[in-house]
Amino acid sequence: MNERLLALFAEHPDGFLSGERISRDLGVSRTAVWKHIQALKAEGYDFESSPRKGYRLVGRPERIRAAVLQARLTTRRLGRALRLVDETPSTQDEAHAWVAQGASHGALVVAEAQTAGRGRLGRSWHSPKSKGVWMSLVLKPDIPLPLTPQLTLLAAVALCRTLRRLTGKEAAIKWPNDILIGDRKVSGILMESSAEDERLNYVVAGVGVSVNLRREDFPPELQTVATSLLLEAGRPIEREELIALFLEQLEELYELYRREGFSPIRTLWEALSSTLGRTVSIKTPQGVEKGIALRLDETGALVVRREEGGETKVFSGDVRQETGTFQKKTM
Ligand code: BTN
Repeated sequence: MNERLLALFAEHPDGFLSGERISRDLGVSRTAVWKHIQALKAEGYDFESSPRKGYRLVGRPERIRAAVLQARLTTRRLGRALRLVDETPSTQDEAHAWVAQGASHGALVVAEAQTAGRGRLGRSWHSPKSKGVWMSLVLKPDIPLPLTPQLTLLAAVALCRTLRRLTGKEAAIKWPNDILIGDRKVSGILMESSAEDERLNYVVAGVGVSVNLRREDFPPELQTVATSLLLEAGRPIEREELIALFLEQLEELYELYRREGFSPIRTLWEALSSTLGRTVSIKTPQGVEKGIALRLDETGALVVRREEGGETKVFSGDVRQETGTFQKKTM
């Protein structure tokens, strides 16, 4: 019942709903509506109420609720073992430590806040309390070590689909795995793998999504380059739903990958990419490559047509996408 009531408010993100309207839509008495509103308030939901206009949902509970998350999960393995922590330096460290204690495939660590969240290429990751999804997932795939980057691309597809579903916005992937809305970053993925003798032991997939940050929740240096789902969708997003949806997408794609290999994942990634068809400069360990991003190759490397002619393949690096020179994608 509370779910149906919340769904009704989600359909009217900005407006008031009268008690009469709610009671009619949900087929319950006015007293029952009042009782459910009180129950939701006790869970941390905040309503503005007006005798004339009814109720307006103005705030959601701050904490990720384990029971709600578990109820939302549709996966077989991903997220079924779950640790919710209040504050940690990094969920990546928590996940690695958990593997050492026996965590299995799909184990998930979610934090309300990180004090030393890390991003790709040695950067830090801004992770304010209760404003985002800061999580690390243990994966134990049976694939050769050099194919690990394919998992990153797979995770980016799952995340991009999730954010599109939740916001209705055209989220897109900037190679290899940043998610942008417009030209601002809303989410990133950090894959850390553990290998021995060229054999992959396990991967920790770290996912950071700026969910309910307001402009002032970002530090000044991020305010012009980063965005949040709240800012883009114009309403708060429920973090449990985001996590459950992401895990569902990821498990589905992971099964597809196991059955059919990288080829279908590559097609999906290319269709969601904001990088292909653009002039890019990529800082790689070998130097800067400049040219037009053409496609992914069958391993997951980015194929770039060099300015000076010829094609090159880039396996990892930091991409700058020129916005002025967008060329229509062929797919
Ligand atoms: C990037 O875009 O540079 C990757 C950002 C990854 C951030 C997430 S938040 C959860 C997990 N824990 C971390 O310390 N980092 C990842």
